[in-house]
Amino acid sequence: MDKLLINGGIRLDGEIRIAGAKNSALPILAATLLTQETVEVCNLPHLYDITTMLELLGCMGVQPIIDEKLNVEVNSSTIKHFNAPYELVKTMRASILVLGPLLARYGEAEVALPGGCAIGSRPVNLHINALEAMGAQIAVEDGYIKARTDGRLKGAHIFMDLVTVTGTENVMMAATLADGITTIENAAREPEVVDLANCLIKMGAKIKGHGTDTIVIEGVKDLHGCSYSVMPDRIETGTYLIAAAATRGYIKVKDTRPDILESVLSKLEQVGADIKVGDNWIELDMHNQRPKSVSLRTAPYPAFPTDMQAQFTALNTIARGTGSITETVFENRFMHVHEMNRMGASIQVEGNTVIVEGVDHLKGAPVMATDLRASASLIIAGLVSDSETSVDRIYHIDRGYECIEEKLQLLGAKIRRVPS
Ligand code: UD1
Repeated sequence: MDKLLINGGIRLDGEIRIAGAKNSALPILAATLLTQETVEVCNLPHLYDITTMLELLGCMGVQPIIDEKLNVEVNSSTIKHFNAPYELVKTMRASILVLGPLLARYGEAEVALPGGCAIGSRPVNLHINALEAMGAQIAVEDGYIKARTDGRLKGAHIFMDLVTVTGTENVMMAATLADGITTIENAAREPEVVDLANCLIKMGAKIKGHGTDTIVIEGVKDLHGCSYSVMPDRIETGTYLIAAAATRGYIKVKDTRPDILESVLSKLEQVGADIKVGDNWIELDMHNQRPKSVSLRTAPYPAFPTDMQAQFTALNTIARGTGSITETVFENRFMHVHEMNRMGASIQVEGNTVIVEGVDHLKGAPVMATDLRASASLIIAGLVSDSETSVDRIYHIDRGYECIEEKLQLLGAKIRRVPS
């Protein structure tokens, strides 16, 4: 197992390119199961979670063909098994995304029930309820969701009790091949849901309202192949912008989309960053000034994303003033706080809020990553600390950030990967 060693205190300065969005690539790869024809998926990020999804397709008998630029061609006509085993689901909860496509296309699916994880219990009851409303018979037995349907799924009117991203995606994919019209109310509006809808439309699906909280899908008999390029990763983009702001630095991020980062860019302006944007780039300059603390509250898109709160907590640790960060999406997403306090931060947890009092500087320490975004925040804490920080268990970061140490090195950071 590797760890990252960071010698902090350096102002980041430079340009990097943003990879394709993990949370868009995963459902799009699952959507390839909806057709017998070949789907080419381009701009896939180089990440463990993508490898896990390709492995999952592989263990069903589907053999994706990958070229040197990591474009993948998937033809699911060779499928033999319709199950997602626990060994893969436990490493990546997003494996649940194959449930809807398998059920809609093949009338059966067995997916291991994802357990709890470092950021909360994360149930999948809403996925199951919605698919049942569409006529699926589902039993949860022996740790597996066992689902089947006689004939096609039926279009249904579905109200999601909570806004769920992968829940919306699973139902939207299943509905593309259902008999009749499905309406999803209180649907997730995340840009990744829109990206998936655009890919499905290119495959021949009839979808309207994606990007709003009511999505209407008119089922069709068959979908066909297509070539689709995954949108840029807004969470990766935001993470590098925050890292540059925290180190009082400058960054230009290219191949990204400022239009889907409004809530994050507005917080960075409050921090004191000078921000310029173009169609596919964002430039941030702190002019060597110490950041000001910000307060924020996470909520579904277009509000502030839960996947970015840990990184802003890291920025607040060394900012001027006191900021509060309230998490409303997941129940236990503050594991990074205790590690940051070990680095000299002054953070208190009060229920689902953390109060961060900015200190002049952090001190390097050995810390442990607990989940994907928490590990990104510990790297930012390491970048603003005045001595060496080692971040252990970085397999979490490799799940969601492509070549993180190379990209940070391009920005001037002293960071290297060593065996633990
Ligand atoms: C997705 C993202 C993840 C992001 C999260 C919230 C992917 C692969 N992952 O996760 O990076 O942090 O959205 O933006 O896209 N819930 C239920 N029952 C359900 C489903 C969800 O109670 O059946 C609850 C969850 O426990 C959570 C909330 O709803 O409290 C939102 O979760 P959800 O949007 O489903 O998260 P994911 O889709 O798993």
